[in-house]
Amino acid sequence: MFKRVTESNQDDFFSSIDDARNYAESAKKSMMRYKAFLANLQSLDIKGKYLEVGAGPGILTVEIARTYPEVEITALELLPDMVTVGREYVAENKLDNRIKFVVGDVEDEQFIHSLGEFDLVYSTYSLHHWTNPDKAAVNLYSAVNRGGMLYIYDLRRLWWLYWIPIKNGFFNSIRASYLPDEIKLMLRKLGIQNTEIQKEFPFMHSIFVKK
Ligand SMILES: C[S@@+](CC[C@H](N)C(=O)[O-])C[C@H]1O[C@@H](n2cnc3c(N)ncnc32)[C@H](O)[C@@H]1O
Repeated sequence: MFKRVTESNQDDFFSSIDDARNYAESAKKSMMRYKAFLANLQSLDIKGKYLEVGAGPGILTVEIARTYPEVEITALELLPDMVTVGREYVAENKLDNRIKFVVGDVEDEQFIHSLGEFDLVYSTYSLHHWTNPDKAAVNLYSAVNRGGMLYIYDLRRLWWLYWIPIKNGFFNSIRASYLPDEIKLMLRKLGIQNTEIQKEFPFMHSIFVKK
């Protein structure tokens, strides 16, 4: 009835360097999409080393590094084209000393392990793309320092958007996204405790896991 659905072409929107550049331009024009995330980040007030997962072309990464001059960010991204555009944007902003882009998969345990531990591990608008979110959650939780935080921010599968019969990036992503209860259940089954899920207006949610 209201099941999560993923299109076979869900990730085709990012299949070339031009797609990565277009995504970067649209993100720069609508920083509103990160508003609730950034407000929460400010309240969390976490210093030190950050890991950003599914960083895309790094628009949020640069915004965070500019706002918090004391943090160092490792930006992990699956697609090499996104990483190319992200590295260019980081260099333009002269932040190479504090942002390091790496190509990799959140579901690759060994790779995540090789990155070390972080005070904050975060991700925006990427969770609904992950093939195996259980595996990713375990990997990311293990990359958090004791006393640190895992913070995942993503779209929420709202029924009134779910039923709009439009097939484009946004509506496909809404249908591929999770309900807060599905995430709660997944984390509980994985034995990951100290979680809190907060709905964000209009169609996002924040998943906080304190370690
Ligand atoms: C919608 S974009 C979001 C980009 C950026 N986080 C933002 O908020 O603007 C989703 C990103 O997640 C990346 N992604 C998807 N699956 C991934 C995985 N398994 N490991 C790492 N990154 C992944 C995609 O390549 C894409 O760049």
